[in-house]
Amino acid sequence: MNEQSKMSNVPRQPVLLIGGSGVVGAETAKTLRQLQPELPITIGARNVRKAGVIADQIGRADVVQIDLEKPDLGLSGEKKFSAVAMFMKDKSLYSLKYAQNEGIPYQNISGAAFELSPEIAYFVHRPTSAPILMNSYWLAGTVTLAILSIAREFSSVNSINIAALLDEQDIGGPAAYDDFKRLSKAGPYALMLKDRKWNWAIDDDRMSQFESVDGKVFHGEAYSAPLDVAGLAAATNANSIRFDFTLGETASRRRGESFSIETIIEISGKQQTGSFGNFRYEMVHPKGQVPMTALGVAVGLEHLLGLVGGSSIKAGLYFPEVLIEPSYMMQRLKEFGTNISQKK
Ligand SMILES: NC(=O)c1ccc[n+]([C@@H]2O[C@H](COP(=O)([O-])OP(=O)(O)OC[C@H]3O[C@@H](n4cnc5c(N)ncnc54)[C@H](OP(=O)(O)O)[C@@H]3O)[C@@H](O)[C@H]2O)c1
Repeated sequence: MNEQSKMSNVPRQPVLLIGGSGVVGAETAKTLRQLQPELPITIGARNVRKAGVIADQIGRADVVQIDLEKPDLGLSGEKKFSAVAMFMKDKSLYSLKYAQNEGIPYQNISGAAFELSPEIAYFVHRPTSAPILMNSYWLAGTVTLAILSIAREFSSVNSINIAALLDEQDIGGPAAYDDFKRLSKAGPYALMLKDRKWNWAIDDDRMSQFESVDGKVFHGEAYSAPLDVAGLAAATNANSIRFDFTLGETASRRRGESFSIETIIEISGKQQTGSFGNFRYEMVHPKGQVPMTALGVAVGLEHLLGLVGGSSIKAGLYFPEVLIEPSYMMQRLKEFGTNISQKK
């Protein structure tokens, strides 16, 4: 499937997916297997029986029991890995320190923008230890990379508004629910870029209105968790960027089908064709948030390991848009069932 990957670079040591038996982790294991048939994978979790089911399903995989209370993750140094991906908020950050000690790439998706200072501190103190991909983006960077791909059709971008509608039946497993509760309780107002200045989204800026793909109007609230606004601000010359979120019933469910995930993107600016105005794009996955998030993590791992896009990545602190070519993600999103359309 992956003509761009370099099979000769496939590491002998497995990629460790900590939480690879959960809702997103198991889907990531399957996506990674599809993208990289030869890559050895280890599923890490507390419940090894459940992890074993996923390992058997994907093949070329085994299982380890993980103890996040221990600095060596309970592994006693017996096994070596080529990379670590996390599918829960690791409150001790032992997993990050483990990757730094081993000098192997690390990726996480469960932090919020306002709680990343400990990870940044660990990196700043050991900047040459390991490549760290901070992928706590909406749907693990897939949406921001799609936006950057679309932005190439513009000669200038004035503003980017992202509105995410997550179906209330699509929150995920217990780890995702814990994150949702923690972030809702601890989260500050969101930071937004407004007229080239970073502002808290308070008062009139806090709430927004957007239309679902079938025209139903939702009230979204500026959301402080994902890193997308910061990443897009650094990657584009946009004057204003905001991210709004709401939990509700997606259009597919209103039609009597299963839940989906909807992300509505509005870009104002001038297109290469000379058209000027506000352009609306709809990104919908008919199976909800899990396949898109899984793809984001799997593609992140491919890049960290140098299986796509060049040689393996040097130690450093990375966001997805500095590692992954937007058109590559766009192509994969379509292959893995995401519908992306422009609306007048
Ligand atoms: N950035 C994004 O766009 C995005 C999108 C979706 C989800 N997420 C995040 O992804 C994470 C996973 O979500 P999910 O829905 O897949 O949750 P989940 O189904 O509850 O999966 C959690 C996984 O972690 C393992 N686990 C939990 N606590 C553990 C511990 N202390 N030590 C070792 N393993 C542990 C679980 O297995 P055991 O119980 O057997 O240990 C399971 O495999 C959440 O943090 C969620 O917020 C991020």
